[in-house]
Amino acid sequence: MTTNACDPKATLTRRQFLFLSGAALVTLATPKFLQGVPGAEALSLQQAGYPRTKVGQLSALKAGQPVAFQYPFDHPNCANFIYKLGVPAAGGIGPAQDVVAFNSLCPHQGGPLSGRLNTEHQVLGPCPLHLSTFDLTRHGMVISGHATEGLPQIVLELSGDDIYATGVMGLVYGFHNNLAEPNG
Ligand code: FES
Repeated sequence: MTTNACDPKATLTRRQFLFLSGAALVTLATPKFLQGVPGAEALSLQQAGYPRTKVGQLSALKAGQPVAFQYPFDHPNCANFIYKLGVPAAGGIGPAQDVVAFNSLCPHQGGPLSGRLNTEHQVLGPCPLHLSTFDLTRHGMVISGHATEGLPQIVLELSGDDIYATGVMGLVYGFHNNLAEPNG
């Protein structure tokens, strides 16, 4: 039997491929966005080296009202938000798979994206510097503007009502390594 190369379940996005190919993955569970991807069953949410940090509670979230948190460091560039989008999203947690989290600095030149949630289209932006806009239902993919990299997505895990951050997909602006805190 041959594999259909056009089967969408057999195709990884560039970001999923980079996430899967990292050697530093710990086996805990299969993320929702990878379910159905051949070979992904044994892979996990948590990236080795990242802390597992409680960042919120599911019951406290309201659609359209982002909740701020710092991760993986208490550093200005590590300002993130949890979003309850109200629609299923890639990497989303919760019964509706609609809870996601992203860093709030534009990956182009660090423009501030906080307060720029568009609840009609579930996007963040436009960035005040060069108008990049990011799709929060598709891992923060760039949909317009100058940015060439997606918005870093914070990997979330749900334990009861508690939400934990367990990793970062994508490089946080100003960092050369997400796990090496820059000075200042
Ligand atoms: S800094 Fe956001 S588009 Fe340039």
